[in-house]
Amino acid sequence: MDAIVALAKRRGFIFQSSEIYGGFNGFFDYGPLGAELKKNIRDCWWNDMVRRRDDIVGIETSIIMHPKVWEASGHVAGFTDPLVDCKVSKQRYRADQLFFAPVFLMENGLEKQIGYASAIESEDVARDLAAAADKMIRRTGRRVPVFTDAAAVAAGNAAIHARLGPIADLASVSSRSDIEEFAKQIPSPATGEPGSLTAPRSFNMMFQTNVGAMTDASSVAYLRPETAQGMFVDFKNVVDTGRVKLPFGIAQIGKSFRNEITPRNFIFRSREFEQMEMEYFISEDADWATAHRQWIEWCKNWLLSIGLPASHLSEYDHPKAKLAFYSKGTTDIMFRYPFGVQELWGIAARGNYDLNQHATASGKPMEYFDEASKKKFVPHVIEPAVGVDRILLAVLCAGYAEEDVKDEKGNVEKRTVLRFSPRIAPVKVAVFPLLKNKEALVARAKELHAKLQRKYAVFYDETGNIGKRYRRQDEIGTPWCVTIDFETIEQDGTFTLRERDSMTQKRITEAELFALLDEQVY
Ligand code: GAP
Repeated sequence: MDAIVALAKRRGFIFQSSEIYGGFNGFFDYGPLGAELKKNIRDCWWNDMVRRRDDIVGIETSIIMHPKVWEASGHVAGFTDPLVDCKVSKQRYRADQLFFAPVFLMENGLEKQIGYASAIESEDVARDLAAAADKMIRRTGRRVPVFTDAAAVAAGNAAIHARLGPIADLASVSSRSDIEEFAKQIPSPATGEPGSLTAPRSFNMMFQTNVGAMTDASSVAYLRPETAQGMFVDFKNVVDTGRVKLPFGIAQIGKSFRNEITPRNFIFRSREFEQMEMEYFISEDADWATAHRQWIEWCKNWLLSIGLPASHLSEYDHPKAKLAFYSKGTTDIMFRYPFGVQELWGIAARGNYDLNQHATASGKPMEYFDEASKKKFVPHVIEPAVGVDRILLAVLCAGYAEEDVKDEKGNVEKRTVLRFSPRIAPVKVAVFPLLKNKEALVARAKELHAKLQRKYAVFYDETGNIGKRYRRQDEIGTPWCVTIDFETIEQDGTFTLRERDSMTQKRITEAELFALLDEQVY
């Protein structure tokens, strides 16, 4: 991750927001290449999801909506994360990401608890808890190994076992005062000492603002925490004006805002991010499970089409017991990031809960009249919801490689390469004149560059030797470089096309170059 974050900054993909003021946690800026990359991801999704389908329309709704939208959707009451404060360090933790375990020592053949170890969620929480336990044991003057699994515990002298769960789980098993007392025994990850943690409490993640000149309870509004509600609230408008027929979808791309307690892993979880969501409405008696599966497959295939490797993708079905009461099923497409396998795209079968909620709260019916069956009903919905920033991070992580390659003289050198799919690469082609002091070469290169520029993001570079120019383009993921040389201007007009991944070169004509781009960049 460090190498990827460094490259993202160095080459102008992603900057910390407000960096000159020390940064602003959970917010990011996209630099020139990042903005292009992000736009390409968005455009690919919009083209495939909306323009190339006859059953889906796109809309764009406002970020700040009537506050009643968020009451009806359940976000005012329930869009919360459990929060734990450290009163000493003033740090805040998500209680479902703060793990603890009791630590025991063997004395005269008996287990004696010496306290609790704590650790923040990581790739290997058990390992981190064992390390924290080891520190505690060392402080007692004993030198004994720490075991975390039951079999080893039986044979060992020291152990952490029993509860190895997040502190948030306590809320469901104990009374408030018990939890408060208990929380005091868990060491704060900030100080390493017990006594300063509060009991978990619910924290609403919606950002509040005030609309209009008055700042009182009546003017409170929210920045949307998801784009989805725009589609439900405008359902009737789209049905009445869009000439849509079930099954059909409404899609939207836009910014969402969540006051995440622990924004982390670079742009993976931030406080301002962009979502691409689609609500696919189906008949009340349609086979929702088949529709759900079809959308999971569609989403996976789409991720492959923008270059994510199948080996990094997996599925996670949310356990039935953890689903909201109205939910029929949710499957997440997971991606193997360097910091662990994490949710990339959620595909939820939400029944007709959302439309019903808005019908009740607004008093406006949300029924659909089905011409074929002459029946009126509130449609059900399948919702594929994904974050643009998470996809962007996935393509950066999957595409990043450091390799040893040979230069023209046979010397081994390092090359850093971003293997972006041509569909999303920020620069599609780089155009080089072989020499910058040969007017005819420069003129032809500039002419080709201008021609390409009318359709594609291209880059003109005449500085440094060709090898160096290739490396600069490899590092930003440009799939092809073309070099205008003497053969181009003195013989048949062909130029050298160098391919990023194979590093092979061949001569092609201008028409062939345009045909290649037309086929690969769509
Ligand atoms: N309407 C459903 C919904 O918003 P979600 O699972 O909360 O569902 C959907 O969000 C997707 O939005 C996630 O799968 C993820 O890709 C992205 N996302 C959610 N929270 C995010 C955050 N704090 N930062 C970046 N992306 C986020």
